[in-house]
Amino acid sequence: MPAAKSAKARKSKTGATKAAKASSAKKGKKQPKSKKSDKDSRPFRFYDNRQNYLAFINTCNEKSAISQRIAKEFQYIQPTPPAFRMFDAGMGDATVLSNTMRYLHHKHPTVPHFIVAKEISMEDVRIGLDKMVDRFSEHPSTILVLTNLNYAEAPKLMPKDVMTANAMNWREIKLEGSHAYNYKEQLESMHDVFAEGWETQTSKVSGNPVFKRPSVFVIYREDHQILLDSVIPRPGMQNWEYDFILASQPWRATTGAKFKAERIIVPLTRALAPGGRLLAIQSCGKDPAQELVKKFWPDYDSLPITRHHILREVKKIMGREARDFNIKEMSDKRSMFKYRMHALPSEIGGASIGTSTLFAAWNAAVYVNQIEDERVEIVLKDGTYLDTTSKVLNKHGGLWFNDETFVISRAK
Ligand SMILES: C[S@@+](CC[C@H](N)C(=O)[O-])C[C@H]1O[C@@H](n2cnc3c(N)ncnc32)[C@H](O)[C@@H]1O
Repeated sequence: MPAAKSAKARKSKTGATKAAKASSAKKGKKQPKSKKSDKDSRPFRFYDNRQNYLAFINTCNEKSAISQRIAKEFQYIQPTPPAFRMFDAGMGDATVLSNTMRYLHHKHPTVPHFIVAKEISMEDVRIGLDKMVDRFSEHPSTILVLTNLNYAEAPKLMPKDVMTANAMNWREIKLEGSHAYNYKEQLESMHDVFAEGWETQTSKVSGNPVFKRPSVFVIYREDHQILLDSVIPRPGMQNWEYDFILASQPWRATTGAKFKAERIIVPLTRALAPGGRLLAIQSCGKDPAQELVKKFWPDYDSLPITRHHILREVKKIMGREARDFNIKEMSDKRSMFKYRMHALPSEIGGASIGTSTLFAAWNAAVYVNQIEDERVEIVLKDGTYLDTTSKVLNKHGGLWFNDETFVISRAK
């Protein structure tokens, strides 16, 4: 990237009218709406912001910090026959999952790994599969199951509704050969089959994408089929329980605690094996990123639902059943961890911060706080957002973020 212009130079180019618009945006005044098609005027959807997600993953170390947090959890889990069973409640681009599988191999190199990953986005499935080829190569006794079923049904790999169950698109993919190269070629040649399995339609209720057909794809190495036979899931036959369940950034921040508990955390909790652990991770703010977005939307609480709200609902829903589990809220000190945006030490605090760094910081702050496109668009029209970003970065020596976690474990 060429050397960036100074924030001052950018400011003079943006002009006074734009600054005025931004200041009215800050005060919450209504902006004249641009003409939009029906498609554009639909509400913000969590999974639409792919480019922001991919930019965020590559400019911040959250996914690596999450992987380190997961590794701590594994010291409490002892695998039992026939396999270590993990459920990822939202694979995303599989950065976290592939790191976790790498660590799992390091810790239990000869134990079969049965990994179920739920994902609704075909793009994520495509990117995620690419990260999996090396895993099959290093850890041959891996069974990877990809599914687009919802939270309540995915752990059992079985839709509740009989009609949906009958329409199930269940496939077994046996990887041939013995090198990562062979697996990559084979999986890439099946993109159309995956694309068909992961076709979506828009939910009339939430506006979110929902599957057209329920899909379960079971992937393993053909040369390990006999060894893995008792672990390979078959349609309608399994009732899996999991040693480890990961729910990392699985929801829209402003969705209510009751919904999160009822639709996501409680069904996942019930899928834990004896001694199994569920680790949930979400953004919690009180960091420079939230300080930055507050400069533009001072009255908006971007991350209103804390782990305490969610766990209160979980306990309410589970009632006496909760006694079989250890539901840990933990102190802030134990629950929270920090991660940062990558930046060269020489970049922050100098005469000017590079434009690409400022863009990355702005993107990450707005992304993590899940600010809707409609709100962001108004501010983007004004150049001052980069100056404000620069000030926040200089004040804090960079950009960092807080995530919080909670753990639910089933008694042995
Ligand atoms: C099921 S979730 C999380 C996927 C994966 N478990 C991970 O942590 O990256 C996938 C969606 O969550 C959102 N997401 C991921 N990380 C986020 C973060 N730190 N803050 C806000 N949203 C996030 C993205 O929109 C992404 O499409």
